[in-house]
Amino acid sequence: MKILFLDQSGKPGGAELCLLDIAKPYQHTSLVTLFTDGDFKTLLEKSNIPVQILTNQTIKTHKQSNLLQGLTSLSQIIPLIIKLTPIARKYDLIYANTQKALVIGALTSLLTQRPLVYHLHDILCTTHFSKTNLHLAITLANRFASLVIANSQASQTAFIKAGGNPNLVQVVYNGFNCQKYQIADNITQQTKQQLEITDKFVIGHFSRLAPWKGQHILIAALAKCPPQITAILVGDALFGEHDYVQQLHQQVADLGLENRVKFLGFRHDIPQLMATCDVITHTSTSPEPFGRVIVEAMLCGKPVIAAQAGGAVELVAHGKTGFLVTPGNIEELAHTITQCYKHPENIIAIANQGRIRASQKFDLQHINQQISQLLHQALNTD
Ligand code: UDP
Ligand code: GLC
Repeated sequence: MKILFLDQSGKPGGAELCLLDIAKPYQHTSLVTLFTDGDFKTLLEKSNIPVQILTNQTIKTHKQSNLLQGLTSLSQIIPLIIKLTPIARKYDLIYANTQKALVIGALTSLLTQRPLVYHLHDILCTTHFSKTNLHLAITLANRFASLVIANSQASQTAFIKAGGNPNLVQVVYNGFNCQKYQIADNITQQTKQQLEITDKFVIGHFSRLAPWKGQHILIAALAKCPPQITAILVGDALFGEHDYVQQLHQQVADLGLENRVKFLGFRHDIPQLMATCDVITHTSTSPEPFGRVIVEAMLCGKPVIAAQAGGAVELVAHGKTGFLVTPGNIEELAHTITQCYKHPENIIAIANQGRIRASQKFDLQHINQQISQLLHQALNTD
């Protein structure tokens, strides 16, 4: 099957890392087109997935920004469509992986009569998007998409609640190459030495730095935990949240936590870093559409404490495969972390169950088979 994948972002966020795994089986027949240059292109090239950048202009990719702001006028949309249309004619199907890709993909699908698939990685609600964005996304999906793949039931429910056609949407979770998350002990010891966290009880946080990812909640909770507990924050501001980064550093200084918090920036060795942690936290203050980091932590065999909202509740069974806490509740998070620190023996079984469950439920091969079946249906070739 020849697929033209579209993604607006040059940055490797979760939706892009998911696309990397989905596009891989189609690498010999398909093309990924990006609306912006960046590290995601390099990752695709390293995986030998053909990639083409469609524009030299940087299209703003703030999640909360107005969908039309990034494509401010027809002067931005038209050149993209003109470039894309002859390319799209060489492919069987258009696969839009982001909201701006949906706008461009829908119009290209209309012009080329190629079926459109929309992979929905967001909870379409007004916390994350303006009413105009919501309306536009729903209208385009309903009118042009043959299939909407939602990354969780939470995303599916929000899509339908916002007016999306229930007959179009199917839930497919992100898939993971589970072996990638098995890290040898000697590597973990080396990494701990490099990070100077040997003999520390380490809390890990692995998300881009953005207010709704709630790194400030973890820092505030850490101040209420025993002083032996330290934290590593892995990730960078991918979409221009530089004020938030400054606020986080200021918060660490104000609370006197400089020796207990390390900011590691964006890293490509997530499994190795997760392996050095005793507990991994997820602290999103708005409902997380899926939450790749939660599954990755479970695959590493680490106890995970996740914010109880959105897709996270589909990934973690509280007290069985991890812990769920009230989003934004600093006291509850601090208490749960402290309990894990004081009773490490109690969390081993939970972490093991988490690993087993995650490797059954999110196996990449199985997920890719599900996607393949759905794409054949969308093409009417099953
Ligand atoms: N990630 C990464 N390097 C970092 C921080 C995060 O590669 O420094 C990865 C992380 O492992 C996960 C993805 O980025 O696979 C983030 O996806 P998630 O679904 O958790 O959140 P998103 O940023 O997409 O909302
Ligand atoms: C988006 C969502 C995140 C999800 C990822 C992959 O970036 O914010 O929750 O895990 O897509 O589907």
